[in-house]
Amino acid sequence: MKKIVIDPITRIEGHLRAEVEVDDDGFVQEAYVSGQLFRGIEIILKNRDPRDAGLLAGRICGVCTNSHFRAAVSSVEDAYALKLPKNAEIIRDLMAMALFIQDHVVHFYHLHSLDFVDITSALNADAKLTSKEAHKYHKKPFRNSHSHYEAVLEKLGNFVKAGKLGPFSNGYWGHSDYKLTPEQNLIMISHYLEALKFQTNISKAVAIFGGKTPHPQSIVVGGITSVADMLNPQRLNDYLFIIKEAKDFIDRAYLPDAKLLAIAYRDEIKAGIGRANGNFMSVGGYEFDDRKLFCDGVIYNHDFKNIEDFDESKITEEIDRAWYKDEAIDNEVCYTDLNEDGSLKTAKNDDKYSWIKAPRYDGKVMETGPLARVLISYKKDNTLIKSFVDEFLKDTDLELIDLSTSVGRNGARAIETGYICEYIFKLVSRLIQNIKYYDTDTWVKFDFDKLNKNVKGRAFFEVPRGTLSHFVNIKDAKIENFSVIAPTTWNATPKNFDGVRGAYEEALVGLKIKDTSKPLEVLRVLHSFDPCLACAVHMIDAGGKELSRCKIKV
Ligand code: NI
Repeated sequence: MKKIVIDPITRIEGHLRAEVEVDDDGFVQEAYVSGQLFRGIEIILKNRDPRDAGLLAGRICGVCTNSHFRAAVSSVEDAYALKLPKNAEIIRDLMAMALFIQDHVVHFYHLHSLDFVDITSALNADAKLTSKEAHKYHKKPFRNSHSHYEAVLEKLGNFVKAGKLGPFSNGYWGHSDYKLTPEQNLIMISHYLEALKFQTNISKAVAIFGGKTPHPQSIVVGGITSVADMLNPQRLNDYLFIIKEAKDFIDRAYLPDAKLLAIAYRDEIKAGIGRANGNFMSVGGYEFDDRKLFCDGVIYNHDFKNIEDFDESKITEEIDRAWYKDEAIDNEVCYTDLNEDGSLKTAKNDDKYSWIKAPRYDGKVMETGPLARVLISYKKDNTLIKSFVDEFLKDTDLELIDLSTSVGRNGARAIETGYICEYIFKLVSRLIQNIKYYDTDTWVKFDFDKLNKNVKGRAFFEVPRGTLSHFVNIKDAKIENFSVIAPTTWNATPKNFDGVRGAYEEALVGLKIKDTSKPLEVLRVLHSFDPCLACAVHMIDAGGKELSRCKIKV
């Protein structure tokens, strides 16, 4: 048995360590996935004015800023039972949808695609054949001229001539697990570069109503402040223009590329590589014409026929294997990862091994994210998503269960992105309709001093990486406690007293690693979940005690 430690896993947000125990034939027998970053934003939130919760909680992460911003404000609104005007909900949804699109595209190309795409092979591509290849996945592929591909080849060639691959350095290039032809690799690299521009543009869409991004600032308890933007047709047009451009890229590059991968890596999909335990959860949401963009539901063990309704009372959080003291409702920290000489421990056995806590639904480990949403919504007959899923499965000759794999997760994410793009336009028309009928309310008036001073609230949202929940306790009009369970907390959960593996860990077990000095297979599995570790580690102090004290030596 050999142990491989990858620390840190790169091309993700935050600090993740993976340890896998591999047998003599190269198969992973056990896995430990560990969040290596302690955050404690909730400590900062204590004793603050609840109206400031959003701006502070938004700092939990530099990527998922808007998700935490909105969820924190919504949890406070829930505590005070404030009912928002329609316009405020729509504007918040428009910001959220733009973030979904940005997050998914960035994840696919910049954080994950190089696990499947070999840059060095792309250098051998023929520009004309590349153009022909792209037509297999779309009638009108994105930027598909010979001269464009020649230019991309020249750019890559210049990197190589300069003796380094720039953003593409440090890959496991030439690994035998890379399956794409030189031409397919070149298509993907071309879109990788285009997606860098895409990323800038789509961020502007969040900023139109958010004031700026990351860390938008227009959501306040009771509504939104971007009133002038909402009422200015030019601003709405700017937003729509960006989304139209985004849709073009998604339809002609992202979705076709997700299909290309699914076809090229069919063997991996059919072998179930990267499949977790088949438990999925979604809280649903984003109302539209009396329907919801995503359905809520819970699937156990890939049983698509019996989908339970989501019930928030079934959520618990455990800390047996996380660095918090066991007795502790107080959740005092208890870091045990260092040997006496200061080196990091790697033997995990029954130790505590992560800053991430272990959320469970009805005692079970859950997977959350685009795959969960797509499976649950599709199987609950959400007519909006049906055609997107059917088309993807038909074009790739796959079945629904095949999406529950590493490559399949990317398919689900691409399907979701295409689906959201379609939906955004309808959401904008709903906003315009509303304004037309003289409903221009954006904020519900309330007198903070007259509100109940001791209340509790919570908010559940589906955000790009999965289910996000914020919980707030307010005492004497100040935040007494704040608690967050982020999507990556669910997916990257450590084991619990029962030893049941988290979704990441379960997906790694059984994996065959061809070359233990280049564990590309591990990266593929972990990246497919789109980890965000900055979001994942959070703690509460329900008893009001001091959690830890740090002394910095000068
Ligand atoms: Ni995040």
